[in-house]
Amino acid sequence: MTKLILNADVQRGQINKNIYGHFSEHLGRCIYGGIYVGEDSDIPNIDGMRTDVIEALKAMKIPVLRWPGGCFADEYHWEDGIGPKEKRPCMVNTHWGGVTEDNSFGTHEFLRFCELIETEPYINGNVGSGTVREMQQWVEYMTFDGISPMSNLRKENGREEPWKIKYFAMGNETWGCGGNMRAEYYADEYRRYGTYVRNFGDNKIYKIAVGPNTDDYHWMEVMMSRAGKYMDGITLHYYTTPGAWENKTPARGFDKAEWYCTMKKTQYMEELVTRHSAIMDQYDPDKRVGLLVDEWGTWHKCEEGTNPGFLYQQNTLRDALVAGLNLNIFNNHCDRVQMANIAQLVNVLQSVILTEGEKMILTPTYHVFCMYQGHQDAQLVDAALMNVPTVEGMDAVTVSASVKDGKMLVTLCNIDADHSVPMELDLRGAQYSKATATVLTGEVLDEHNDFDAPDRIVPVDLACELKGQTCCVTLPAKSVTAIVLE
Ligand code: AHR
Repeated sequence: MTKLILNADVQRGQINKNIYGHFSEHLGRCIYGGIYVGEDSDIPNIDGMRTDVIEALKAMKIPVLRWPGGCFADEYHWEDGIGPKEKRPCMVNTHWGGVTEDNSFGTHEFLRFCELIETEPYINGNVGSGTVREMQQWVEYMTFDGISPMSNLRKENGREEPWKIKYFAMGNETWGCGGNMRAEYYADEYRRYGTYVRNFGDNKIYKIAVGPNTDDYHWMEVMMSRAGKYMDGITLHYYTTPGAWENKTPARGFDKAEWYCTMKKTQYMEELVTRHSAIMDQYDPDKRVGLLVDEWGTWHKCEEGTNPGFLYQQNTLRDALVAGLNLNIFNNHCDRVQMANIAQLVNVLQSVILTEGEKMILTPTYHVFCMYQGHQDAQLVDAALMNVPTVEGMDAVTVSASVKDGKMLVTLCNIDADHSVPMELDLRGAQYSKATATVLTGEVLDEHNDFDAPDRIVPVDLACELKGQTCCVTLPAKSVTAIVLE
C-alpha cells in the first residue's frame, strides 16, 4: 500500500502566493477579445474589460499578473499606449501574426484590470528595442507622487494618484527574441538599466533580471556572479512540448505514449529548478534572490484553422496534470521559487480561460489553480511518499502539502493513465476531525471542456475516510486530487 507521511509540525517555509501567478501578452486573443473588448462592446464589461473573465479570475484568486510580454515587451513603447485612444499610434506586432496593434489597451487599462481582478501588476520593461530613458520615465509615470513631467502627464491622462508597482523586469528572453545577447553582455545591460529604475516615495521596486532558457546553466552562472547583487529576482523559462519543438503536436487526440512523454518532460522542471537553485546558492546562500519561473506550461500545435501566430490551443486533462505537477514542484522549492507565471491567461497556450465571442469556458487548468488555492502563502509541510508505484520509469504520484489557518491542504497527481492508487495518509504532528477531497479526472486522456459542453470536466467529490491519525483515499487513474484536513 502506498503511504504518505505528513508531518504537520515540520514546516519548510512559506509558499509564496505568487507561485500562482499568470502572464498576459499582446498575443493573439489574450488581451483583445480575451480580456478587453472595449466599452462599446455588447459583451458585458467594466471599462471595456470582460465581466465574465473578471469574475472567474477573482474566484480563482490570482495574486500577480505579468504584462505586456513576452517577446512583445521588447518591442513595446509604453508612450504609444497612453492618452486619448484615437490619438494612439498603431504598430505591427511582428512576433505574433504580424497584426496591427492599435494600443487601445495600455498602461492605464492594464492597471485598471489589475484593480478589477484584485491582483498585483508585474510590468515587463523593454531592453531589446527601448532605451534607458524610456524605461526610467515609465516607472516615473506610474509611481512618482509629486510634480514632474511624467507625473503631470499621468494626471493629464486622468490618473491623479500614482500606482503602486512592485514587480518590474528589465527585458524578456534577452538571449532570444529580446535582443539575442550573450549573458556577459546582458549582465552589464541589466546593471545599467536597473540603475535608473528608481524607487519613488515609498514605492519599492522588486527588480527582475532575465534568467536562463531551460538548461542554460552558463547564463545563470554569469548573471548571478556579475549582477546578482543588483537584482531581487531572476527568471527561468521552460515550456512542456510533448513533440519536438519544431514539430509540435495537437492539444487533443494524442496517444498514451505521448501522455507519458508529456509527464516526463514536465517532471524535468524538478531538475531545472534544483540545478539553477544550486548555482544561485553559491552566490546567494541566504536565498535573497528569487527564482521566478515566469513562463511555463504546455505549448502544443495551435488549433486547426486558427492563425498560427496566435498560439490558440485547447486544454485537456493532460494539461491539468502538467499544471498540478509543476505547482507541486514549485511549492516544494518554495525556499527559492518566489513566483511562477503560467503562459498565458486567456486564449493563448495553457490558458485557464478560453473565449469565443461572448462565450467563455473554464479549462481543466483553471480548476487545478482553484483546487491548489489554499497553498497560497501557506507553510509548506514535510510530506514523504513511500511504496509509490512507478509507471514508464516515473513515480506515478507526486505531492505537496501545506498548512494555513489550522487546515492542511494535500495536493496529489496520479499520472498513471490506467491504474488508480489506493493510499494511506499517516497524519503526524496535528489532529484533525474532518477530511474532504475533490478530484479532477475524466473518461479519456484528452477530456476537455468546450463551448457546447463547458462542464464536462470539473472537480467532483472524492471519498476519503479519516480514522484517528489515518486518512484513506484512492487516487483515480490520471487525476489531480486535493484533500483538506481540518
Ligand atoms: O509565451 C509565448 C512566448 O514564449 C513569449 O512571448 C516569449 O517570452 C516566449 O518565448
